[in-house]
Amino acid sequence: MGKNDLLFDYNNMMADVIGDNGITNEELNSYMDKAKLAHYNFEKKKGYNMMEWTKLPYEQDSVAQEIEAFAKNVRQNFDYFVVLGIGGSALGASVIFDALCHYNHNLLSKDKRNAPIFFVEDNVDPDRMNALLDVVDIKKTMFNVVTKSGKTTETLAQFLIVYKLLKRALGEEEANKHIVFTTDRKKGDLLQVAKQKNIKCFYIPEGVGGRYSVLSPVGLLPASVLGVDIRDMLMGARDMEERCKNFESNPAVMKAVLEFISYNKGLKINVMMPYSQSLKSFSSWYAQLMGESLGKRLSLDNEVVNVGITPVSALGVTDQHSQQQLYIEGPNDKTITFITVSNTKTDIITPSNSLNIKELDYISNVNLGKLIYVENTATRYALSVNGRMNNTIIIPQVNAYYLGQLFTMCMYEIVYLGEMFNINAFDQPGVEDGKIATFAMLNKSGYEDRLECIEMFTVLTKYIV
Ligand code: PA5
Repeated sequence: MGKNDLLFDYNNMMADVIGDNGITNEELNSYMDKAKLAHYNFEKKKGYNMMEWTKLPYEQDSVAQEIEAFAKNVRQNFDYFVVLGIGGSALGASVIFDALCHYNHNLLSKDKRNAPIFFVEDNVDPDRMNALLDVVDIKKTMFNVVTKSGKTTETLAQFLIVYKLLKRALGEEEANKHIVFTTDRKKGDLLQVAKQKNIKCFYIPEGVGGRYSVLSPVGLLPASVLGVDIRDMLMGARDMEERCKNFESNPAVMKAVLEFISYNKGLKINVMMPYSQSLKSFSSWYAQLMGESLGKRLSLDNEVVNVGITPVSALGVTDQHSQQQLYIEGPNDKTITFITVSNTKTDIITPSNSLNIKELDYISNVNLGKLIYVENTATRYALSVNGRMNNTIIIPQVNAYYLGQLFTMCMYEIVYLGEMFNINAFDQPGVEDGKIATFAMLNKSGYEDRLECIEMFTVLTKYIV
């Protein structure tokens, strides 16, 4: 572990730092066998199908090459790039865009942007869809339709809408050149369309589930279109993977065991609060990863366990002035995870106190980079002094390399937690229930028997005021 690595600071989780509410060294030691077993099982399961995502940083040389060539063509010939997807098929692209591009990318002039105007459309709200169509010039837009299953209702509905518009504007042959699919290689409705219409596809390897797919073409294609160095991102992921092979230097397993102990002490909520505007979407990505992976009814032994840590997204410093009061004085049922960035990409300094008001001296000649750091430290202090457990992931900079590290550390952490909870961190039967109910309500054939049951819950008027 070098000076420039991602670091995990868990001082403020410990009783000898924050007092009785913290975790004692004895407590931590008593969970170490469990943590070691989780680490061992993870390494052992790397050969299993659902762990194929761990190979992504190592095995994508030729895919990365193909993506880079395709992305170069998009940058040269299209003014807009729109991702159509949802959940794990959309959140990663949003993180990459927000973390690695200019905050006002879409408002910059073309030569300053050096990449198409970019949107991730992860909702079927008609107002949002119409708002998108109001601002893009469809003749200059490349749509990236992303769905692992190839049959997610929301994404397919969005695709059908834009495909019709494209055909009307450009004719079918040309329309097909404005679409690129990212989907499964072997199955799904989208694959059928691709074959029928000869539409370009990138593939999500088998064993790479939605929320573990950001380092596959799901995240890499949008990243490359935006001009991100995807090799750097994969290298960051690889370096973190290598680090995690070793139990002792592994920040992911340490965070996992601390969250697991906290959960068992009744702290069943985790707030992810980056102190960097560019990582705001990262906390949403993490919320999905944590919520969907760990929230499970059944254990691996088929016992009803109903476990899961409830993820909350927050942003420093903004939420210091909204949620922080709750975190410091409300119920002690949460851990807080900060992400601190050592070096911001730019900085700006307040002027010297030309107003000659003494009370403003303290914010004269202050770099905002320093101010955000001080506020982060102050919040950590305020929580700790009130006995509230908090930990901090420290990254030197928000860039492709450290984003690769961060994604990987968090995916590892969640899988270790899955091992400790003894649940399957890769399925999502609850989400599937909702998907199936949607099929039934839209009269998709094969789902007729669900309708009666759904109506039982949805047509009642007894308790409505
Ligand atoms: O993590 C997951 O598996 C889900 O969030 C999926 O990504 C989401 O439901 C979209 O599925 P699909 O990619 O099949 O359209």
